[in-house]
Amino acid sequence: MKNLLVTGGAGFIGSNFARYMLGKYPAYCLVVYDKLTYAGNLENLRDVETNSRYAFVRGDICDASGVERAVREHAIDTIVNFAAETHVDRSIMDADAFIQTDVYGTYVLLEAAKKFGLRYHQVGTDEVYGWVEQGSSREGDPLEPRSPYAASKAGGDLLIHAYFITHDVQTTITRGANNIGPYQFPEKAVPLFVTNAIDNIPLPLYGDGKQQRDYQFVLDHCEAIDLVLHRGKIGEVYNVGTGVETHNIDMARLVLKLLNKPESLIQHVVDRKGHDRRYSLDVSKLRALGWEPAHTFEAGLAQTVKWYVENEWWWRKLKSGEYREYYRKQYEERK
Ligand code: NAD
Ligand code: DAU
Repeated sequence: MKNLLVTGGAGFIGSNFARYMLGKYPAYCLVVYDKLTYAGNLENLRDVETNSRYAFVRGDICDASGVERAVREHAIDTIVNFAAETHVDRSIMDADAFIQTDVYGTYVLLEAAKKFGLRYHQVGTDEVYGWVEQGSSREGDPLEPRSPYAASKAGGDLLIHAYFITHDVQTTITRGANNIGPYQFPEKAVPLFVTNAIDNIPLPLYGDGKQQRDYQFVLDHCEAIDLVLHRGKIGEVYNVGTGVETHNIDMARLVLKLLNKPESLIQHVVDRKGHDRRYSLDVSKLRALGWEPAHTFEAGLAQTVKWYVENEWWWRKLKSGEYREYYRKQYEERK
């Protein structure tokens, strides 16, 4: 492994991964290939721009010729795919781009991996298992996605399995729980709540707020991807999470406590359609490879809140333009 194509690397997790890999592996070159949708942002990568082992290519993973050109020109040997439409609420409003990017785009990348003999890693999600009422999901459990986002990600996972079996493409998949940390677009619950609270704007909590998520710190997730990329068994899937579940209302309360804001800012609003009340991952397979998360939920959230407090330059301008229109559509009728 020497030349990595990090698709979707201008987004939240991909940009953290790019920074982490450039720092950790002095012999690796890294090309971020990204369409720069509303969620992609080159400012996430500002501090690595001058690194001679880093390059950026603007491109769509659905564009086979663009992908092949990037692979050839940069002598790519490995694809790590973060590129996706990722926000469940947007997939409920309009699923089109989700099917395009998360299913068809994955197919295009797999075709390139097949043609050029590339190692392929897919950054997947725990949402493919659906609402877990009891127990915890293991990697072999059936996929029962319940939102258009989760279904499109499940479609990608199934294609990957098929390309491993049929074409012997060297694949791995990680299925991660909710990430928190620097550079997360402020439409997702944690950065939305943090930035709203800073501005004394209500925190729109869906339904009773008793839904459970495993909020893991993004760098722990990046370490897990790195580990599976290097030591995971080809053809396999690995769950990634802390195994600790938190109710959304407790996450919101802790955000307010960290910012010294009143709990009266929490506003219960109409629930998300088809809302999965709980995800829960069994992460023993990944732990057997030697991985342990370095951050507790409390420590990860504190670090996240601190970053948003110190980096208003980054998020304040994102909460304008198209974002305002999205926010109005998404929240106005929920009150
Ligand atoms: P994000 O929305 O912050 O970033 C997605 C990136 O993909 C953006 O830079 C965007 O421009 C790019 N992109 C979108 N469509 C593209 C296309 N057609 N071609 C090229 N680039 C395109 O997402 P994220 O939160 O960083 O998630 C990254 C990956 O991790 C996704 O695959 C997501 O499903 C998965 N994941 C996310 C979480 C989470 O909590 N955020 C948890 C588990 C798994
Ligand atoms: O589980 C992994 C997934 O985590 C990733 O695959 C997705 O890409 C990522 O977006 C995330 O999905 P969620 O739907 O869990 O994340 P989100 O931040 O949108 O919501 C977290 C929880 O908070 C969820 O139960 C819904 C709730 N919520 C969300 C928003 C945006 C609210 O209560 N209010 C809100 O305004």
